[in-house]
Amino acid sequence: MVELRRFLGGLWLFLALLRLGCAAPAVAGVDGRRAIAATDEDFVCATVDWWPPEKCDYGTCSWGLASMLNLDLSNKILLNAIRAFSPLKLRLGGSLQDKVVYGTGSGGGPCTPFVKNSSEMFGFTQGCLPMHRWDELNAFFQKSGARIVFGLNALNGRAPLPDGGTNMIRAYAHCARNSPGITLLLINLSGNTTNQVSVTSEGVHAKNTVKKHSRKLAGSMREEYHLTPKDGNLQSQVMLLNGMALVTDANGGIPRLEPVKVDAAHPITVAAYSIVFAHIPNFSAPACS
Ligand SMILES: *[C@@H]1O[C@H](CO)[C@@H](O)[C@H](O)[C@H]1NC(C)=O
Ligand SMILES: *[C@@H]1O[C@H](CO)[C@@H](O)[C@H](O)[C@H]1NC(C)=O
Ligand SMILES: *[C@@H]1O[C@H](CO)[C@@H](O)[C@H](O)[C@H]1NC(C)=O
Ligand SMILES: *[C@@H]1O[C@H](CO)[C@@H](O)[C@H](O)[C@H]1NC(C)=O
Repeated sequence: MVELRRFLGGLWLFLALLRLGCAAPAVAGVDGRRAIAATDEDFVCATVDWWPPEKCDYGTCSWGLASMLNLDLSNKILLNAIRAFSPLKLRLGGSLQDKVVYGTGSGGGPCTPFVKNSSEMFGFTQGCLPMHRWDELNAFFQKSGARIVFGLNALNGRAPLPDGGTNMIRAYAHCARNSPGITLLLINLSGNTTNQVSVTSEGVHAKNTVKKHSRKLAGSMREEYHLTPKDGNLQSQVMLLNGMALVTDANGGIPRLEPVKVDAAHPITVAAYSIVFAHIPNFSAPACS
């Protein structure tokens, strides 16, 4: 996990994504001369939301008992996962944070949960967080060492997202943190095509810049982390890293996240419905040094 943290940087770089022809790989042009945004050292890494089990989208009710209101705080895997990313910053919140009231007893009314009602904003009534639950959550965050950001308003706290868009790929570039070069994040594509993305530090407009850049990176390696759903099922609860299921061991231990090493001169292959992190140590980006 420490590995994974190390290459996700706080500085964002400008990235332009262009497809030169239908059959050709897309080209990601990364301007490494200056950073366009920065996130702080312990940028929010994970969110614990408010959604109750009755929250359903696209035909599935996926939240189960994962809400702040009902999460099993004695689950060993949860504790191990938070500790594995230590220090993890947890954002507590989500859309319903605007509709939470706190069971302090001062309002006089009973402390009642969210109730599904399609006429209400976000499809639920106001809901109440009982104080004993708040105490349990606090004790758990202390024990796990998580740093907490508490969401009070759903409209605040959105990060800037420099989005390189063809309509098939979302692409972001960061300086690697505490390690040389840059890290690219490539997301999705369509559900039925595998795409390739070439990376260049030059303008993306001339065809030969890709070749030139590939020559510069000849002999260099990059590290790739390909995340896909098990059996291609986007609703699977099992995620594969480089084709291997990410599962805990018999003691609930979190698996190591190991990259595959790839020739940096080759385009990055991004499978249908996948997320790829690519750390390119030898990519020259003055903004990152
Ligand atoms: C749902 O919410 C609407 C608007 O607040 C309210 O008029 C209605 O009575 C509610 N329905 C139920 C079943 O509580
Ligand atoms: C992936 O991208 C395609 C094309 O933009 C879109 O139709 C599809 O819904 C996306 N899939 C997911 C899981 O976001
Ligand atoms: C991929 O899916 C889209 C829409 O889902 C469809 O229009 C297109 O023909 C498909 N392409 C292939 C190669 O199957
Ligand atoms: C980076 O480039 C140098 C010089 O070409 C090479 O020796 C080194 O192995 C490369 N590093 C990686 C991680 O590929």
